[in-house]
Amino acid sequence: MANTATLNIEGKELNYPVIIGSEGEKAIDISKLRAETGYITYDDGFGNTGSCQSKITYIDGEVGILRYRGYPIEQLAEKSNFVESSYLVMNGELPTAQQRADFSKLLTENAPLREGMIRFIQSFPRDAHPMAVLSATLNALGAYYPHLASNNHQNDLAHFDEAAAIAISKVRTIAAHTYRVSNGLPFNYPKPTLGYCENFLHLMFSKPYEEYAPTPEVASALNLFLLLHADHEQNCSTSTVRMVASAGANLFASVSAGVNALWGPLHGGANMAVLEMLQKIHDDGDDGTRFIAAAKAGKGDRLMGFGHRVYKNYDPRAKIIKASFYKALASLGIKNDPLLDIAMKLEEVALSDDYFVSRKLYPNVDFYSGLIMRALGIPLNMFTVMFAIGRMPGWIAQWREVAANPKLKIYRPRQIYTGANQRNFVPMNLRQG
Ligand code: CMC
Repeated sequence: MANTATLNIEGKELNYPVIIGSEGEKAIDISKLRAETGYITYDDGFGNTGSCQSKITYIDGEVGILRYRGYPIEQLAEKSNFVESSYLVMNGELPTAQQRADFSKLLTENAPLREGMIRFIQSFPRDAHPMAVLSATLNALGAYYPHLASNNHQNDLAHFDEAAAIAISKVRTIAAHTYRVSNGLPFNYPKPTLGYCENFLHLMFSKPYEEYAPTPEVASALNLFLLLHADHEQNCSTSTVRMVASAGANLFASVSAGVNALWGPLHGGANMAVLEMLQKIHDDGDDGTRFIAAAKAGKGDRLMGFGHRVYKNYDPRAKIIKASFYKALASLGIKNDPLLDIAMKLEEVALSDDYFVSRKLYPNVDFYSGLIMRALGIPLNMFTVMFAIGRMPGWIAQWREVAANPKLKIYRPRQIYTGANQRNFVPMNLRQG
C-alpha cells in the first residue's frame, strides 16, 4: 500500500504522507499543502475530511458497523448497560468490579443539584424549550464548580473523573427538573438506591403520593436507548465539542456547545421531527404514500429518520432499537399504535423504492427512537434532551482526547472567499436602496 500520495499542482509534483488507521482507513495528510503551494482543500460539509485521529469509536458506514473502543455495538447492547458503556467510552477499557463500583458511587454522589441551580432552572419561562435550558444549565456548571472549569486543560484533566461524573449524573437531573418546572410539578430528589435509568424515570414521573416504579423492560429500553447514543465519532455536535475544546475551553462549556449543535433538526432534533412527521401523516389521513411521493419530488419535507452522512446501509443502532421496541410496548400494554403502523409502512415503501435505494437512504437511529420515547411517556419536546443525556459520555471522551493531546492545535479551518472585492466606503447620502 502506498505510504505517500502524489499531487500534481501547476506542474509541480508534491508527495504527502498517507495515514492508515487501525481498521485500514486511509487519509492523505495535507497539513503542509498550503505552506508549500498556497492551495487549500475544499470539502463542503467536511464529508471527506478527517478532522482528527481518535481512539474512541469506529464506524464503517458502508457495511453498517459501529464499535465503541473496539467492542461491537451489538455485544454492548446485549451484555452491557449505559453506565458501564459510558465508563468504557470515556476511559478506553471496560471497568473492573472495583472501578465500576467507584464510578457508580461518584454518579450517585453527584446526582443532586445545588439549590441555586434549581432556582436557575425555575427562572426560565415555563414554555422554554428544554434544550435551551439544558445548554444554559450545563454551561452554568462551570460557575458552580470553578475548580473543574479553569480553562486550563492540565488542571481540568487532573479533576477529570469528578467533572465527568458531574456532567453525566447532573444532565439527567437537570433534564427531569426542567420537565417538572414546565409542567408546574414539584421536584423529585434523586434516590441513592436507584440505578441510573430508574432514577431518571423516578425524577421525571414520581408523584408525591405515588412512586414511579418502571417495569424492568421499560428501564432496559431506556438503558438501551442511552447506550446506543453514547458516541458516534465526528458528528456535528461532537465536532462542535472538539472545536470548543481545542480553544482550551473547559468540559462544561464544551458539552454545552454540543447540546446546541444537537438541537438542530438535521442532527439530534430528528427524533422529534420523526414523531411530528408521523403525526402529520396520520392527521392528514395519509398512509405515508403521499408523503413519500412529495419527499421524492422535493415538494414536501424530507423523510425524517432516513438517510445518514456516514451510513450507506442500515444504521446498526436502528436495527437494535427496533427489536427492543416491541418488548417495551408489550410491557407497557400498548397494543395498537397507529403511528407505529405508519412508520412500518414508510420503512417498507422506502426500502423498495428506487429513489431511496439508489441514494442509499436507510432508517437511522432516530426513526424508531422517537417511538420508544413516546411509549415511555417522554414528551415530544424532551426527545432531543434524551439524545443529549445518552451522548454525554461520548462528548466527554472526545473533550478528553482533545485536552490530553500534547500536540493540540486550535481548530481553525480556512475558507474560499466569494464576496465583494475591495471597494471604497459609500457615504449615507450616496447609498442607493
Ligand atoms: N428524505 C428524502 N430525500 C433525502 C433524505 C431524506 N431523509 N436524505 C437525503 N435525501 C436525498 C437528498 O435530497 C439528496 O438527493 P439528490 O442527490 O437528488 O439531491 C440525496 O438524498 C443526498 O442527500 P444529502 O443531503 O446530500 O445527504 P447528507 O449526507 O448531506 O445528509 C442527512 C444526511 C442525515 C442530513 C439527510 O439524510 C437528512 O436530512 N435526513 C433526514 C434527517 C435525519 O433523519 N437526521 C438524523 C440523522 S441520524 C442522527 C444523527 O446522527 O444526528
